[in-house]
Amino acid sequence: MNNQPIGIFDSGVGGLTVAHAIKQILPGESIVYFGDTAHLPYGDKSEEAIRSYSKGITEFLLDHNSKVVLIACNSASASAFEYLKKEFENRVILIDVIDPVVEFLKTRKINRIGVIGTKRTISSGTYEKKLNKAIPATTVVSLATPLLVPMIEEGFIFDDISNAIIRTYLSNEILEGIQALILGCTHYPIIKNQISKIFNFNVEVIDSARIVSVILREVLDKNNLLNDTGIVKDQFFVSDYTPYFEKIAKMFFEGEINLQKSDIWS
Ligand code: DGL
Repeated sequence: MNNQPIGIFDSGVGGLTVAHAIKQILPGESIVYFGDTAHLPYGDKSEEAIRSYSKGITEFLLDHNSKVVLIACNSASASAFEYLKKEFENRVILIDVIDPVVEFLKTRKINRIGVIGTKRTISSGTYEKKLNKAIPATTVVSLATPLLVPMIEEGFIFDDISNAIIRTYLSNEILEGIQALILGCTHYPIIKNQISKIFNFNVEVIDSARIVSVILREVLDKNNLLNDTGIVKDQFFVSDYTPYFEKIAKMFFEGEINLQKSDIWS
């Protein structure tokens, strides 16, 4: 089983920020990635829709021999993780991007934590519920920042437009006094530096991709699933293909990538 790939999925190609972090921490592992570009954005979808898509994708990743399945998408982690665990608990180890961050924060003494994410992630209240349970003394505040995804995808990253949007969102009074900010969306690591700058580098900006990759390494190690064969093969699938997806995929993955179309929904 050790040479089987790590299955990773997201609503689109933003989850490649997580795939990139995994390749950094676990260079000896193969990955099979699925981006549901036919249905993105998940941030505006209902819980029911996201659960149903996530189930279909998990089946696809199992058909491709995944030894674990990682939900790279925050919106899917917030809405479908518990559901997927019930559906697939006997078949595969599932990892989300929220629980590892909650575990990480348990070790820190932070009084007030902010979370930003899509409308779906924030309205689900999943981060708050999990953080309140794990670290009850900490106040958790959250804010939906839906313009950030299209802004990043359209390449507005280091300019006046992105600065104005980021500043407007982050100066919301609900975030006043936070000591840490969780980037609760696949896309936000791309603008991590701009976000830190707006807080004058006084707020710890938490990018889950690296934290999740470290947990993944621990899980593989504990279950004797680390790939020790030296054979690495990565595959990247999308449910709808355009040259534009391929272009932005390179930005998120920070490297060359070949997207293959696999229309699992037809
Ligand atoms: N991948 C999504 C997330 O992390 C962002 C993009 C979308 O809304 O589909 O929540």
